[in-house]
Amino acid sequence: MKKAIYPGSFDPVTFGHMDIITRSAKIVDELVVGVLNNSAKNSLFSLEERVSMIKEMTKDIPNVKVASFDGLLVDYMNEIGATIIIRGLRAVTDFEYELQIAQANHVQNEEIETIFLTTDLKYSYLSSTIVKEFASYGGDISKFVPECFIDRIYDKYKDK
Ligand code: PNS
Repeated sequence: MKKAIYPGSFDPVTFGHMDIITRSAKIVDELVVGVLNNSAKNSLFSLEERVSMIKEMTKDIPNVKVASFDGLLVDYMNEIGATIIIRGLRAVTDFEYELQIAQANHVQNEEIETIFLTTDLKYSYLSSTIVKEFASYGGDISKFVPECFIDRIYDKYKDK
């Protein structure tokens, strides 16, 4: 049984993340979307909000689970019995950082392999940061996230 994790901050989850989740769920038996409890990072959405948005978005994919983790990814993978890390590569600018993390994680535990999926061209520009930047100015984010999340994202900037 091939159990994989797709780790990230998902602050918030975008169509680009969803594309990677849908495609990787087809190549592994079980996919855990692992939301990092990054207390040091100033997240727009709480951990609970990020987990619940991904649950809503993935509710129709039976082999996808959503969970949160803190600490080292390799330790969490050991805890849940996952051996594959899924990451999306948008452009060459992602590559150096991703290569370094993949190699470091493999050195920590040589059973762990990272599989990179190249992002669909439609979403190659898209990131959570882009969503937040447009939303903070009241811009159109309908091509970035599902319609049901749009107001939730705008609401975060109401009092700012
Ligand atoms: O979506 P992001 O913020 O680019 O995801 C980064 C993530 C969560 C994959 C990475 O920061 C991570 O795995 N953090 C957990 C701590 C850890 O294992 N660090 C060592 C590898 S960087």
